Amino acid sequence: MTESRTPSADVPAPIRRPRRLRSSPVMRRMTAETSLTVDDLILPMFVADGLDEPRPISSLPGVSQHTEDSLVRAVEEAAELGIPSVDLFGVPLDSDKDGEGACSWREDGVLNRALARLRREFGDDVLIMADTCLDEFTDHGHCGVLRRDRWGRTIVDNDATLANYARMAVAQADAGAHIVSPSGMMDGQIEAIRAALDAAGHVDVAIMAYSAKYASAFYGPFREAVGSSLEGDRRTYQQDPANRRESLLEVELDIAEGADFVMVKPAMAYLDIVREVADMSPVPVAAYQVSGEYAMIHAAANNGWIDLEGAMMESVLGIHRAGAEQVLTYFAVDVARKLRGR
Ligand code: PBG
Repeated sequence: MTESRTPSADVPAPIRRPRRLRSSPVMRRMTAETSLTVDDLILPMFVADGLDEPRPISSLPGVSQHTEDSLVRAVEEAAELGIPSVDLFGVPLDSDKDGEGACSWREDGVLNRALARLRREFGDDVLIMADTCLDEFTDHGHCGVLRRDRWGRTIVDNDATLANYARMAVAQADAGAHIVSPSGMMDGQIEAIRAALDAAGHVDVAIMAYSAKYASAFYGPFREAVGSSLEGDRRTYQQDPANRRESLLEVELDIAEGADFVMVKPAMAYLDIVREVADMSPVPVAAYQVSGEYAMIHAAANNGWIDLEGAMMESVLGIHRAGAEQVLTYFAVDVARKLRGR
């Protein structure tokens, strides 16, 4: 048995010094608990119909609505930096929008055309992910189809919407998407999409489920980015920011229905949810640093109030440290450049 040391009267107990492990850059590098790599990044992108050249989105500095050609060039740049995946949103002409969002599943719809082009250009070198939601394609801007209920209220019809999501996901897989990502928060959407994909022979197409998606003010700039027609809000289908237990239920259901990845969105105001989901999920967990988070950092940096690069790296690292294995961020290219020292 070892004898316990008796504290001497004149030698004080040494204080604990965690600062030792912060004493030099190489010491900090060796003891870093989390590291970010380009493999953790997914770049969200926009392709719009009827453009002659890319159109910058004023509330998202550095982000544009792309033409098919400029999209290809931008994906090439991302791929050269080693970014493994891009997530594509389509912006149709207003005249192509209708109550059902039918141009989302037409082969010649803007999103499906662009997906096919990207798959032709890049094969399996980049994972082509498609946003699987109706809001960009409906004239009312909701993520589902509308109907009047028996009390005369206009509601988003969950089960009628599922059929449209299934058509859309199959069209995206037909076009060449490796991953579909249902973001509409309808109940049963993962099961409906999985069944439809399998029936169409797309057993290898993965589903990244927006499982815990909150009704958030941080989506503001995205509405400009996709020319959204929405009036009102999405609070009957997206989650209340007050809730956490509900997210765990949504994640459990999506996994049971066949989600290959689950996602939490937005990221920065929901890092507790990211951590809890990461602790319980048997499938990879992603988080989406949304448009408002990106815009906010740019706006503050633009005023000289924070350092853009520092805030960018810290925010994405923080989301990763909270438990997100994949981070969807409009900063993906800039982060990748920084990580690669370019
Ligand atoms: C809708 C969708 C939204 C975003 C991604 N998919 C907007 C919304 O739910 O209102 C937001 C992304 C962002 O803000 O960056 N399907």
